[in-house]
Amino acid sequence: MKIGNLVGLVGWRGMVGSVLLDRMQAEGDFDLIEPVFFSTSNAGGKAPAQAKNETTLKDAFDIAALKKCDIIISAQGGDYTSEVFPKLRSAGWSGHWIDAASTLRMKNDAIIILDPVNLPVIQNALGKGGKNWIGGNCTVSCMLMGVGALYKAGLVEWMTSMTYQAASGGGAQHMRELLTQFGTLNAEVKGLLDDPKSAILEIDRKVLAKQKTLTAAQTTNFGVPLGGNLIPWIDKDLGLGKQSDESGWGMSREEWKGSAETNKILGQGAAFGTAETPVDGFCVRVGAMRCHSQALTFKLKKNVASADLEALIAADNAWVKVVPNNREASMRNLTPVAVTGTLDIAVGRIRKLAMGEQYVGAFTVGDQLLWGAAEPLRRMLRILLAA
Ligand code: HSE
Repeated sequence: MKIGNLVGLVGWRGMVGSVLLDRMQAEGDFDLIEPVFFSTSNAGGKAPAQAKNETTLKDAFDIAALKKCDIIISAQGGDYTSEVFPKLRSAGWSGHWIDAASTLRMKNDAIIILDPVNLPVIQNALGKGGKNWIGGNCTVSCMLMGVGALYKAGLVEWMTSMTYQAASGGGAQHMRELLTQFGTLNAEVKGLLDDPKSAILEIDRKVLAKQKTLTAAQTTNFGVPLGGNLIPWIDKDLGLGKQSDESGWGMSREEWKGSAETNKILGQGAAFGTAETPVDGFCVRVGAMRCHSQALTFKLKKNVASADLEALIAADNAWVKVVPNNREASMRNLTPVAVTGTLDIAVGRIRKLAMGEQYVGAFTVGDQLLWGAAEPLRRMLRILLAA
């Protein structure tokens, strides 16, 4: 049966939601749907310009109003999903739920959507009556958009991912905090910077003193300074335990997701009756704005020439852009500044490592608000509308 096109949108005003709306607008998605805009705070207000028949904002907690939708897309966040989704399903709603939040991701009846990588997994679930479509962790999605080809070709014995994650992964307030900190640090030494004869070690001392005395208000979101610093821990501390369960073994939750979600997206692991590919590494917050970068190390199952790996990666999807492994190209094209705001997933530094010919390094950069969040959601909408 064809899926109806009454689409509820929740959380469209936030950062991910705004990027989503822009992308939907740019791709003409609104031509295909009858949108209903919901709000958690402004029900009765005026819906945005993309509204058609329903120009008033509906209450995002009104289960009866939500139930009318054939498809709901939420970028409202995990708390909203936890509160509303179970009520909606208990009330008998059998529509399609597309969600950016991680809440439902690892549930057995949820598919992590990243169709250029796992369209067969999505189609299979759709055929079996699947209704819950959840966007993946941004780091994982950007990584698989870049190097998914190696997994699809069955080449990966294991992978480590050392991440350089942007402030935007925390949210809009985190980006503001980073920029404010940069400004505060600059202001602290502006006079000395303007004087070419000033001593760099004095500048450095003053910056450090300021970083160490930033107030609670100046570090509300990250907890410690990020400007001129990095933070080698993202998300919850899973504590010590067994690797096989979510308690991890000294892992952060973000690191745990690297393995759990990569395998789930690829349709492998215990839930699929197949072996998992080990994926592990450290997730680090850096002072980039909205591109997550990752240094990857692969152990391949067999020796493949670097040029062949580059060709495989380049041919995988329309968005991956292989950057030649040289200084000039890497500096120009393999950076957050080069990639931000585009759907490109840059993959470079592809080379054999000193450990042996089956060991390969690569570096990827992707905009975590696009492929890492908004884009898979709107593409899932298209898949449902075409089903
Ligand atoms: N958890 C990610 C981060 C963003 O903090 O960068 C969401 O996937």
